[in-house]
Amino acid sequence: MRTVTTAAELRAVLDAERSAGRTVGFVPTMGYLHDGHASLIRAAAAADDVVVTSIFVNPLQFAPSEDLAAYPRDLDGDRRVAEAAGGALVFAPTEDEMYPGGRGAVLTTVAVPALAGVMEGESRPTHFAGVCTVVAKLFHLVGPCRAWFGEKDYQQLAILRRMAIDLSFPVDVVGAPTVREPDGLALSSRNVYLTAEEREVAPVLQRALQAGAAAIAGGETDADVVRRTMAAVVDAAPLGALDYVEVADADTLEPLEVARPDARLFGAVRFGRARLIDNIAASGTGAGAAGPSSTGSDGGSAT
Ligand code: PAF
Repeated sequence: MRTVTTAAELRAVLDAERSAGRTVGFVPTMGYLHDGHASLIRAAAAADDVVVTSIFVNPLQFAPSEDLAAYPRDLDGDRRVAEAAGGALVFAPTEDEMYPGGRGAVLTTVAVPALAGVMEGESRPTHFAGVCTVVAKLFHLVGPCRAWFGEKDYQQLAILRRMAIDLSFPVDVVGAPTVREPDGLALSSRNVYLTAEEREVAPVLQRALQAGAAAIAGGETDADVVRRTMAAVVDAAPLGALDYVEVADADTLEPLEVARPDARLFGAVRFGRARLIDNIAASGTGAGAAGPSSTGSDGGSAT
């Protein structure tokens, strides 16, 4: 497993691979890799010849009040996970390498406001511009590739897919199903913040989404009734404070008045230090049954 820390090295290694006819898969991460990341790396390795995993805790996507300093980090462990999953290369830049002069010197940002104002964007108004800016930079550094993102962060996936299309990146953005614990809790680096008691209750978010899907399957078409059904499941459990539940269009992310089986159900719940998010397809298949979904568009092909 090779680890590079500079943009110049990364470009040189990947240009050489492409010149030799090998295709590149890319898994952008903030490290502290778990089985969800490993499944993305495995999928990338099955689809392309060389897989690069970036590990960079991006300060631009954290608000001043958020957990940047405390965000869990374990580069040696990450290298082992990436290698075991079939990754060939880790890109682990410093903040100064990504943002010369530091994050305060960045004057250019990339944003997709039409998709970023709802749900996560309401409580984290600067978050997605930070994500888009770093991913745009990473796409430029990695070059033509197929890039993998988990559906656990569905809003992020929808935004990055749009960004790749709108800005003509030669990148095929691919979404992969959420990986879950046996009790339904979606894997997340932030799960380490849960106390034992909170961990026991945390699957309530997934159960709330399933209750929403069951209501729609049972014929409920009033999206507000579905929202209330989901909220009631969270409210009935101890320890969790509901942030939001939503019934939204799966592409535009617009909140719906009429619930449909092709909608997407979203939720966010705070448990102590951990703020957990999750989503499923309203047809009930989003808990992991849906296969990888790609831009399949003029966003470019993985070459
Ligand atoms: O999903 C993440 O881990 C991050 O938001 C990403 C895409 C790596 C950008 O920092």
